[in-house]
Amino acid sequence: MKRNLISLADLTAEEIEHLLALAKRLKDDLAAGREHAWLAGKTLAMIFEKPSLRTRVTFETGMHQLGGDAIYLAPNDIQFGGREAVADIGKNLSLWVDAIVARTFSHRSVVELTEHASVPVINGLTDLLHPCQVLADCLTLSELRQDLKNLYVVFVGDGNNVVHSWLNAAAKLGFKFTLVCPAGYEPHPEVLEAARSVASAPLEVVNDIAEGTKDADVLYTDVWTSMGQEAETERRRKVFAPYQINEALLANAADDVIVMHCLPAHRGEEITSEVLDGPHSVVMQEAENRLHVQKAALAWLLGAEQAQI
Ligand code: CP
Ligand code: NVA
Repeated sequence: MKRNLISLADLTAEEIEHLLALAKRLKDDLAAGREHAWLAGKTLAMIFEKPSLRTRVTFETGMHQLGGDAIYLAPNDIQFGGREAVADIGKNLSLWVDAIVARTFSHRSVVELTEHASVPVINGLTDLLHPCQVLADCLTLSELRQDLKNLYVVFVGDGNNVVHSWLNAAAKLGFKFTLVCPAGYEPHPEVLEAARSVASAPLEVVNDIAEGTKDADVLYTDVWTSMGQEAETERRRKVFAPYQINEALLANAADDVIVMHCLPAHRGEEITSEVLDGPHSVVMQEAENRLHVQKAALAWLLGAEQAQI
């Protein structure tokens, strides 16, 4: 049966933990110069409706490092969903390639691709979810603190795609998670409800930043205006202004608090440069880990024998 990586909610805790362990192994092997041609002869098609630095480069590099190939399809190349139906794109790509990664505006588009493609589809970010990012972040936290279950992750900002994937991860892996956001920017109620229904630790949403960030082990943030929301930029700048991760917020946090950001960052908006470049920040480790978790996911989904549970 073909597997996809559309939402962390679709994976079991065991599968997520397997991907994290495999990613750690691949990271160590790369550092030690041990190469694996597990995906020799395989090709990944990469559909992007939105810009990307990290997602594109890490998927493409990851395929090369595992002996395979990747084809980048920029927004103008196939005019996803405009030139022809998404179903037809999924069926055609399945004739030639072994997997598809897609970054789309609408989450429905990625779901539609999985319905019509006979090869695995990976979500490279939609307006609803960003599972690969949060997998990389969980790998980063497991490197820094070992036991994810005892962690308390607080996200300060918009109840967006990255938050939804955090809710799914916290629910599956059993750690406590709070979103601190302005009223009106809460996560999608269905995603929150579904996550709470399987969670073993509290998943909270609060509006008060002092109350919400108390006792956090991790302070996470992301842009206030996600790709596709550009028309709301000015309004969001005003509404989110009190929700900045800065030195004053850190002064009230634990001495060893970890600061995370998926990047790209808007310096001086959701986070100051002082904090982003400061000693608590692990943003480069997160970015690096995108490569390792996605190599693990590719090897697992494409059926590499060495990557199965
Ligand atoms: N974090 C992330 O997904 O970065 P890109 O938008 O550059 O791919
Ligand atoms: N929430 C952001 C994440 C970028 C990686 C966006 O969707 O633009």
